[in-house]
Amino acid sequence: MQIPITLEDNAITHHDFIPEIEAGLLAQSASISPKFLYDPLGSHLFTAITLLPEYYLTNIEKNIFTQYQEQISNAVGIGGTLIDLGAGNCQKAESFFNSIKPSSYLAIDFSVEYLQDALKKLAGKYPHIHMQCIGMDFSKQLMIPSSITSKRTFFYPGSSIGNFLSLEALQLLSQIKSQANDGGLLIGVDLMKEDSVLMAAYDDPLKVTAAFNLNILRSINSQLGSNFRVDQFHHKVIINHTENRVELYLEALEDLTVSWPGNSRAFKMGELIHTENSHKYTMESIKQLLKSAGFETTQIWTDPKHYFAVIYAQ
Ligand code: TRP
Repeated sequence: MQIPITLEDNAITHHDFIPEIEAGLLAQSASISPKFLYDPLGSHLFTAITLLPEYYLTNIEKNIFTQYQEQISNAVGIGGTLIDLGAGNCQKAESFFNSIKPSSYLAIDFSVEYLQDALKKLAGKYPHIHMQCIGMDFSKQLMIPSSITSKRTFFYPGSSIGNFLSLEALQLLSQIKSQANDGGLLIGVDLMKEDSVLMAAYDDPLKVTAAFNLNILRSINSQLGSNFRVDQFHHKVIINHTENRVELYLEALEDLTVSWPGNSRAFKMGELIHTENSHKYTMESIKQLLKSAGFETTQIWTDPKHYFAVIYAQ
C-alpha cells in the first residue's frame, strides 16, 4: 500500500535546523528544542516511556478514552477527517476509528519516517479510510491543506500542548480553531498533581526517560555534526511550581567542550542544557486557555484522581 507523503515547506530538511540548533547551544542558558528528541531511536524510546507504569499520562488517557468512548464520539460526531497532531505510532487515533468512523485520516508528525511505517500497517487494517501523512513542524506554523474539505476533527492527545509556553500554546490552539471549520478539537491535558508522582513519571527507575532525554545529544550530533558525548551528561528533572511545569535538562557531569563545524561551546560541570518543559494545567486554567483561543464550548472527561483531562472543544 502506498501512503501519499507530503513534506510541507516547513518540514524536515537538514540545513534548515542548523541555525536554530546553534543559537540554542550558544545561548548563555543552553537549550535544545524538544523536537530533536524524536529521531527514529527517540521515537521508539518515547513509545517505551508510554509503556512504563510510572508514566501515568498514557495509561490514564487511554482509560478515559475507553471508558467514555461513546460520549466522546457522540460529542465529536461521525465521519469527516481526523487530523492527528504528533501522530507517533498512530495507536491513539486508531482507538477511535470504529466509533468516530472518519472517512479520512491525516497523520502529522515531525518524525516522518517513523510515521510512514506506522501508517503503512494501519492502511492495511482500515482500507476504507483514506490515509495521508505530512511531515510538519507545526510548533512553528500549522497549515492544513485546503484540499481537506470534510469536517475537521483535530486530535491532540498526550498532553503535548503542555510542551509549549502559554503564549505558544495559545497561538497553536488559535490556529487549530481557525482551521477547524465546523469541526473541533479533541485534546488530552495533564493536570497538576503531587511532586512525587510527577518525579517518578519524568525520572523512572528503569532510566528509560533518561535514555530518551540523553538521546537528544546523538540526534543533535547527526544534525549538526557535533561531538556530544552522552556519558558526560546526566538527565535532570526540576519541578517549577511558579510556572506549573516539569522542566527537563541535561546536566554536564564535568567541564567539557562540544565542537561542530564552525563553532564550539564550553560547559562547566553542573551546567544545564534545557530540553523540554511539560506544563501541568488545572481544569480552570485549560478551560480559560481554550476560551482565549476562540473555542466556545468544552466537554471534559477525567479519571477518579483527576490526574488527566480529555476535552472536546468547539
Ligand atoms: N510530551 C511528553 C511530556 O511532556 C514528553 C516527555 C516525557 C519528555 N518524558 C520526557 C520530554 C523526558 C523530555 C524528557 O510528558
